[in-house]
Amino acid sequence: MAPPAYSAGPRLLLLLRLLSTSTEAAVAAAVPTAPTPAAAAAAAAAAKAGKKKDPWPLYPRLSALGRVGEGSVSRVLNKWVREGGTPRSDDLVKHARKLRKYKRHAHALELMDWMVNARGMNMSHTNHAIRLDLIYKVRGLGAAENYFAGLPDPAKNHRTYGALLSCYCSAKMEEKATDLYHKMEELGIPSCKLAINNLMSLYVKLGRHGKVDGLFEEMKMKNVQPDNLTCCILMTSYAASNKIDAIEELLKEMVEKDVALEWSAYSTLASIYVNAGLVEKAESALKKLEGLVVADDGRQPFDFLMSIYASVGSLSEVNRVWGVIKAKFSKVTNTSYLGMLQALYKLNDIDRMKQIYMEWESNYESYDVRLTNMMISGHLKIDMTEEAESLWEKAKEKGAEFDSKTCDLFLHHYMGKGDMNLALNWVENTTKLPKKAGRLDQDKIHKFQKYFEEHKDADGAERFCNCLRMLGCIDGKAYESLLRTYLAAGKKNSSLRQQIKDDKIEICYDIGKLLKRMGDKGR
Ligand SMILES: *[C@@H]1O[C@H](CO)[C@@H](O)[C@H](O)[C@H]1NC(C)=O
Ligand SMILES: *[C@@H]1O[C@H](CO)[C@@H](O)[C@H](O)[C@H]1NC(C)=O
Ligand SMILES: *[C@@H]1O[C@H](CO)[C@@H](O)[C@H](O)[C@H]1NC(C)=O
Ligand SMILES: *[C@@H]1O[C@H](CO)[C@@H](O)[C@H](O)[C@H]1NC(C)=O
Ligand SMILES: *[C@@H]1O[C@H](CO)[C@@H](O)[C@H](O)[C@H]1NC(C)=O
Repeated sequence: MAPPAYSAGPRLLLLLRLLSTSTEAAVAAAVPTAPTPAAAAAAAAAAKAGKKKDPWPLYPRLSALGRVGEGSVSRVLNKWVREGGTPRSDDLVKHARKLRKYKRHAHALELMDWMVNARGMNMSHTNHAIRLDLIYKVRGLGAAENYFAGLPDPAKNHRTYGALLSCYCSAKMEEKATDLYHKMEELGIPSCKLAINNLMSLYVKLGRHGKVDGLFEEMKMKNVQPDNLTCCILMTSYAASNKIDAIEELLKEMVEKDVALEWSAYSTLASIYVNAGLVEKAESALKKLEGLVVADDGRQPFDFLMSIYASVGSLSEVNRVWGVIKAKFSKVTNTSYLGMLQALYKLNDIDRMKQIYMEWESNYESYDVRLTNMMISGHLKIDMTEEAESLWEKAKEKGAEFDSKTCDLFLHHYMGKGDMNLALNWVENTTKLPKKAGRLDQDKIHKFQKYFEEHKDADGAERFCNCLRMLGCIDGKAYESLLRTYLAAGKKNSSLRQQIKDDKIEICYDIGKLLKRMGDKGR
């Protein structure tokens, strides 16, 4: 049986996810013009040479807020001002952008709101666009639309229109998005590549590939230069409609048009080739990818390389890239360790997995149960049940706490082997998970009930019902099955009627009949 996590379907999902994060990134890139690292370094050097360092740095205070709720940002800002901080619009916007980059949208928005409401600062058009995007993310589409409607006319330019369009696209509201796009055309707002890219990726997500082609034609007609994101969107669209040849044509066209493709474009290409089973082409795309990686790209491209090399079955390349990661970065993150374990899992190399896991265990900073889950998967896949259990015991000694994945792995494994009592232990563990993480589907519930009835196991059935109660999914059917189990076992339990009432379940005709057969006199 193939492991469910690595079939072809999810890989296309991965592509789409890649695409949506990259549109996000593009919005972020197009809306604010963030300083390049080189420029930032130059500015820092100039600051060092000229003025002294900021005596009241603000960002560390904002950063330290972590995930606390609303109101906290204003408090920090007010305190900072009282202590002598000088609020300058440019600096504050820079902080807001940084918070946004780390997905702390509510804090970023609160900061911008404070600039306007508490300090009466003016928002540039670019800043309006950023604020609109944040409002959408924090308060929803309605609030973003209102904000846009309330902007002074001069601020309704390509940036703010573009930001609103991007909201509609991310909310997958096709009609509103196209209406707005046509309105922009009527108003003579120049079509920018961001707007078209946004619409294109909306159509890819909706599976309307004809529309994607149409927009690309429009782009050419209007002489809008495509970029690497355009290229990624088009490749994904072609791949989804099985037009692999069109992808190669497209790449030629991009080269002719001098579009600077980045590693991410080749990662998309490699995924597509892997999906299509074109291993050699995938490998050549990976080589191109690796050549395009720049220091700024961080670890992500290498994690990606490991994953795809594993998909094409190349252990030596996986190991080579792992070596590159270790040589290039002073610290190997748990994401990279996880990626390496996943790669080795795909390649069925349990011994190397153990080696890597031990290495991680000997130097991790904080425990990451995902890595242990990966090891458990690796062992269960080849039916090394005892090893998987003892791995978990050891992890527990180190303070590991299971998550829903851990429970699912063991549960699925034991159920598959028909070891329902061992499986039941993990159902009991599932009930200890926070709120809604623990769930059982109807199919599994049914299998347990059938098993206990057939094995006349009233104790097991009781334990199982207890789990259902804790998971909040006990119902009349569960009690019918429990009662049938009692009957099969020839056992009685005089407190069942009361328990059913306590669970607020109606004693229907069927349950009443079963209770009577068990010898319950009723009241
Ligand atoms: C904000 O803009 C208005 C109009 O452009 C201008 O009169 C005012 O001085 C500006 N305020 C600040 C704090 O820059
Ligand atoms: C190139 O595309 C990727 C996504 O595919 C994106 O993350 C990156 O920012 C783009 N680069 C530029 C310069 O637009
Ligand atoms: C490892 O993962 C945990 C949990 O996912 C996270 O909190 C921690 O910051 C990560 N550690 C490193 C070094 O990346
Ligand atoms: C969860 O269930 C398994 C199997 O019975 C057990 O080994 C483990 O100790 C339980 N609890 C925890 C906290 O892992
Ligand atoms: C009888 O049923 C109640 C309610 O389901 C349960 O809590 C109790 O453990 C059962 N008693 C026995 C002896 O099984």
